[in-house]
Amino acid sequence: MSRTVYLNGAYLPEAEAKISIFDRGFLMADGVYEVTSVLDGKLIDFSGHCARLGRSLKELDMAAPCSDAALLEAHRELIRLNDITDGMVYLQVTRGNPGDRDFAYPAADTAPTLVMFTQSKPGLADAPAAKTGWKVISVPDQRWGRRDIKTTQLLYPSMAKMMAKAAHVDDAWLVEEGMVTEGTSNNAYIIKGNRIITRQLSHDILHGITRAAVLRFASEAQMEVEERPFTVAEAKGADEAFITSASAFVMPVVELDGVAIGAGRVGATVTRLREIYLEEMRKAAI
Ligand code: PDD
Repeated sequence: MSRTVYLNGAYLPEAEAKISIFDRGFLMADGVYEVTSVLDGKLIDFSGHCARLGRSLKELDMAAPCSDAALLEAHRELIRLNDITDGMVYLQVTRGNPGDRDFAYPAADTAPTLVMFTQSKPGLADAPAAKTGWKVISVPDQRWGRRDIKTTQLLYPSMAKMMAKAAHVDDAWLVEEGMVTEGTSNNAYIIKGNRIITRQLSHDILHGITRAAVLRFASEAQMEVEERPFTVAEAKGADEAFITSASAFVMPVVELDGVAIGAGRVGATVTRLREIYLEEMRKAAI
């Protein structure tokens, strides 16, 4: 069955949604995006995703396509039209179609392009991998220097994901100057004793919406949170490790570069964090 997607104010069958070849999203990766998960037909942490979208747009001097209220309305309409129970809504804003190719940004009155679509993922919160954990490899972080802006320049993360596939593991942790930055499409954490260690916010990593919520819940659960970079060697010697993202929630990591982390099994702390996150976020879903 064909999906109904959203393009610049219209709800269309996916085959009818067309964008110009001159759109700067296509020619320059001049676009930003958000992925919001849906559980039981409701949006998880929508306000967080909206706030980060606003920040990404501002950092790139890009106009907001519409109000947050209109975005919420469109997300809900797509969930309804596509009958999504569990899955996600993808949103992308580009600097639009100036009618030609030019490195300079077009005039401010060039209309942005706004695209949204759904992906159905039945049982999203019950992923079997949450019980067995992910295996990851470390690879050099060769992305640009403004990873805090959620742009659609995703080629290097795709390459890193393919390196992980070639190594028969689930994902890659990106490493810069000996320190882990984050996963290909998620934030990375280790646990030592009662302490969660994750890289501090800066231009080096995406400011994960799931990260913010998980660190808040961890503090409320009397866990210590230390925001600093960690090395691959430190991760290999950790008790537990995990990643967070809107699509994987809290996902245990049990192996790094072939070395078991802790007991090499999903640990109690990660399991608890995942439970708290899903319980609290389901309660607050809209
Ligand atoms: N990725 N770091 C990177 C590089 C990411 O691409 C993502 C999200 C995250 C986690 O952010 P959040 O918790 O807000 O989802 C961290 C999304 C899910 C994606 O590209 O599909």
